Amino acid sequence: MTKRMGIIGYPLGHTLSPAFQGAALRHLGIDATFESWPTAPESLAEKVASFRAGDVLGACVTLPHKQAVIPMLDSVHDTAKSIGAVNWIVNKGGKLTGHNTDAPGFLRSIQEEAKFDPRGANAVVFGAGGAARAVIYALRTAGVARLTIANRTLEKAQELASAMSERRFKPLAISLSREDLTDAVPYATLLVNTTSMGMAGGPAPDASPVTADLISADALGYDAVYAPLETPFLREVEIAGGRTASGITMLIYQGAEGFELCTGQKAPIKVMMNALMKARAGRK
Ligand code: ATR
Repeated sequence: MTKRMGIIGYPLGHTLSPAFQGAALRHLGIDATFESWPTAPESLAEKVASFRAGDVLGACVTLPHKQAVIPMLDSVHDTAKSIGAVNWIVNKGGKLTGHNTDAPGFLRSIQEEAKFDPRGANAVVFGAGGAARAVIYALRTAGVARLTIANRTLEKAQELASAMSERRFKPLAISLSREDLTDAVPYATLLVNTTSMGMAGGPAPDASPVTADLISADALGYDAVYAPLETPFLREVEIAGGRTASGITMLIYQGAEGFELCTGQKAPIKVMMNALMKARAGRK
């Protein structure tokens, strides 16, 4: 029986997951397909229940369903529980388990692609939404020494800082005002943008959360936004003389971990990356 995998989200117009997941399945000769399953919030429960069927291996979960699926599952892995979001559902014998591979996917992408060791680093994360939460969780487990959350709405940064605090990890919350950024950004060796600033088609496609004059030439700038590949934020990091890394690798690594959980086979990263680049080029 041909097995099925897919991605649920709403809307799902621009998802690149079927292109690179399908390429991985074909490359390994796995008799399965990866489909796009646009799922409106009102049909989410029914859709998730259908994943218990014998031919479904699992599904990737994207916005806006990452929290809403949690009560619909039989169990939730610790990482997903701590982050409060599930981005993969795995079906094993009719039992559904929720996982979060965004956090390990982010870590793998800065460690393996950008060759950056977060242990002991001084990091600034821009944004305080769901993506920030996964990134901060990842940096906490990787042992950063100092972490500052910079967000347009200061209260949201403060809430997230206290939610992520532990005995040895106390994030600092600041606003995006120049004064606040001046106290933190120049000392950071890792800067991560998780806001939607710079996102094509988003509310502020030409904006960056910070300007080059505040950025250290020793910093790595990582943008969770991957469309476009060259974002306004990454341009500021480049002007400052820092290194840059695109969130496109996080998309691949979160998908690779999900693929491995669902199929039990090692994901062919290069094949997935090539397929993703080809699909993007075809879209332009
Ligand atoms: P996600 O789950 O992808 O992180 P989200 O929860 O909607 O998405 O969070 C979006 C983030 O981008 C928030 O930190 C938001 O800032 P606020 O908390 O102040 O809303 C930030 N953001 C979005 N548009 C922005 C803009 N034009 N300027 C600055 N920050 C922006």
